[in-house]
This record gives sequence, structure tokens and C-alpha cells, in this order.
Amino acid sequence: MEFTTIKGFKDILPDEVQTWQRLEAEARRIFFSFGYQEIRPPLMEMTELFSRSIGEETDIVSKEMYTLADSKGKGLTLRPEATASVVRAYIQHRLYQNNPVVKLFTIGPMFRHERPQKGRFRQFHQIDVEVMGDPGPRSDAEVILLVMTLFRVLDLADLSLHINSLGCPACRPAFREQLKNYLARNSGSLCADCQRRAETNPLRVFDCKVEGCRDIVRDAPSILSYICEACAAHFTALQNYLEESKIAFVIDATLVRGLDYYARTAFEVQTEKLGSQNAVAGGGRYDGLIRQLGGPDHPGIGFAIGMERLVALMEEGSEKKPAQGPDVFLVGLGEAAGKKVFGWVDEIRRSGLWAEMDYGSRGLKAQMKTADRLQARKVLIVGENELASGRGVLRDMATKAQEEIALQGLVERLKRDAEAEKLRS
Ligand code: HAM
Repeated sequence: MEFTTIKGFKDILPDEVQTWQRLEAEARRIFFSFGYQEIRPPLMEMTELFSRSIGEETDIVSKEMYTLADSKGKGLTLRPEATASVVRAYIQHRLYQNNPVVKLFTIGPMFRHERPQKGRFRQFHQIDVEVMGDPGPRSDAEVILLVMTLFRVLDLADLSLHINSLGCPACRPAFREQLKNYLARNSGSLCADCQRRAETNPLRVFDCKVEGCRDIVRDAPSILSYICEACAAHFTALQNYLEESKIAFVIDATLVRGLDYYARTAFEVQTEKLGSQNAVAGGGRYDGLIRQLGGPDHPGIGFAIGMERLVALMEEGSEKKPAQGPDVFLVGLGEAAGKKVFGWVDEIRRSGLWAEMDYGSRGLKAQMKTADRLQARKVLIVGENELASGRGVLRDMATKAQEEIALQGLVERLKRDAEAEKLRS
């Protein structure tokens, strides 16, 4: 039997990891400058946490969760998203006690049993951001500014920001009724799934990718004609802040998002480059969720970036930098030199440089070949004679220049060389 990754799960190989690390490093740097702190919730939670927050009628909860029963038959689920977990942690640890506004981010894998395709996986990764305690709209604008700043720093072009307002419990029911009536009148043209959704959760019909349903949705009533004055004022203020920050946006009244906890602002950052999986990031306001999960009546807003999709955009057209090799490769010839080299490699590594050696006791030619393959910048050759004289041969692999150096003070010398080289590059 041949073992391979399971469907929808993938390895991120060393070649690709460079891009992932760059993304994570830039995100952390920018989040820090916006005052966000990292939180790391567990990957598994009580099933009910997700069904109560994301919504029973959503695709995620009704068919995509990886759920198992513990020994007492209680449902446990691998998280399909991070918002529910972060909100649970906010409530459980009373994170609001000393801070009126809590700004958090988390980075890690999520699990959804979807049909895999380009840009869609069963295990995927998100950079998730949550702000709890501020009713906005300034915090709405700030989180959008945050994600757009990250995309700008990563030099990503051709992204469009789509925004909408989903109303609140005061105004959405009236819209829901109107939409329900409209969908009922056009029920014959909807797919089987949407015929059911039209009854149970009509806003979900906006998300359907089936062509017939998209045609019906095009002429559906617009939520923006139904939102109340307070929601409309919030939405206008958000647009003003975005304009102030010179962030371009498209108002898209059909943007509803696939999770039920949103109220008022909803947004997505989309790309044309990834086929039908066009959302690189999505989020919105979830006032009411914290209370619904047993916490205080605090508002919240956040978003999540799909890392696989973002990495695909970052890698597109960008030339891979050649991997950097070790600062030095130590060649020890003979048993005594081999032993010494083992100790020096450890010392050099402790000084912060990358040092490598041969793991066997092969000859000079074979060891030089390994140093070459690893793209070592320098090679230090030490045999019996060098040990006796206290001087080794240091070869610069780029210029091929060789010089004799004292083995005493070797680490300091290599450090000086590495720093000088860093200054030059
Ligand atoms: P979401 O729209 O379900 O929102 O996911 C956010 C992003 O995760 C998507 O825009 C997409 O880039 C990525 N994503 C989702 N599913 C997959 C998949 N199967 N394969 C690859 N990438 C995927 C949320 O998860 C909300 N929790 C966001 C949020 C945070 N709202 C408020 N706070």
C-alpha cells in the first residue's frame, strides 16, 4: 500500500514554505503596528459552538464539518473557521475585563469537507482577525484598512474590495420576507438546493453558483433598499472612512457571505485570477454573536484571509529567489579533524551562523561536492597537517579564492565575514 495525503489535504513543501513565511511575517509586522495581539485557540471545539454561531442552515454546518463523538457521545468538531473559537475564548477568559476593545489575530488550519478544486481544499489555512467591543463604523474601516495594507505591502495587484450592509435584526426580517416572496414566485427556475434555501434561509440563494439561480438573483430585491436608518448611516460612514483612506471599493448588494452571524457590514476581497474561488479574504460585523454564545452584549467585526489563495497570488509571476546555502561547510579529513569539526560546527551554529559538515568520513572530493550542492558560501578544509599547524584553508565558493586562516578565533572570523557580506548584498 502506498501512503499519500488524503483528498483535499496537501503538504506544503520546503520550496513553497518561503512564501508562507513571508506572508506570515508581513502579517505579524502589520498587525503589531495596528495593535493586534495573537491568540492560538485549539483546533477542535464542541460541535454546538459552530452550529450555534455559523448557523444550522449554512453549507458549512449542514454538510462540511468534520465531526466525531468523544467517549461519552458528545460531538466534537475540527474548526471550520476561527471566529467562533476566538469569541468563545473572549467569553471564557473574560478578555474584555481590562480592555474595552480587544483586537486579536490567529493563524492556522481550518477544515471543511467541501468538493476540492482549484483554490479550495478540505484543510486550508486562514489568517483570522477579530475586533470585539467597538460598534464601529471606524473599526469596520480599520479592519478593512488592515487587510488592504497587507495586500499592498505584498505587492498584490488586481484585487477588488466588495462591501455590503446586511442590515440588523430590526430591518433584515422585512427584507427576508420580500426576498422569500420573490423566490417563491420564481421557485421553478431555482436549483433543488435553493428551493429548500428559499424557505429556510433565503439570503443563502445569493451565494449559489448555479447559472439559473444567478439569473433569478440578478433581479431580486436589494437589501440596501430595506436597511433601517441606523444601518444606512453606519454604511455611509464606513464608505466615508474608506474614501478618506483612499481605498477603492465596489458596493455589491448581492454579497451575503456563507455564515449566518453577520449583521451590517459584510465585505470580501476578490481576484479574477483564481477562477470560481475568487474570494481571497472575507469578513464582516457580527454584533449579537458574543451574546448569543453566552457572553456580554458586545459587538464584533473581523475577517479571514485564505492563505492558500493568497500564496497562489504571491507566487504568480514572482521569481523564486534562489535558496540561500549555509554560511560555511566544514571539511574534516581524517578521524582527528572530523572530531574537531563536529565541535566547531556546533560552536559556529550557536553563534547564529548556518554551518554544515559531512556526516560520514569521506574524502575531500566527495565533501567538496556536497558543499557545492548545498550552495555553501565558504568551505573550511582541515586535515591532519592543518590541525598540527593550527591553520586551516578557507575557500570562498563564489570567487574560488583560498586563504590560510588561524583556527584559533575561527568563529569570530566567520562571523565578521558573514556580516561584511550582508552589508555588501
Ligand atoms: P469565509 O468567507 O468562510 O469566512 O472564509 C474566509 C476565507 O477563507 C475565504 O475568503 C477564502 O479565501 C478562505 N477559504 C474558505 N474556505 C476555503 C477552502 N475550502 N479552501 C481554501 N480557502 C478557503 C470565515 O471563515 C469567517 N470566519 C471570516 C470572519 C472573521 N468573519 C468575521 N471574522
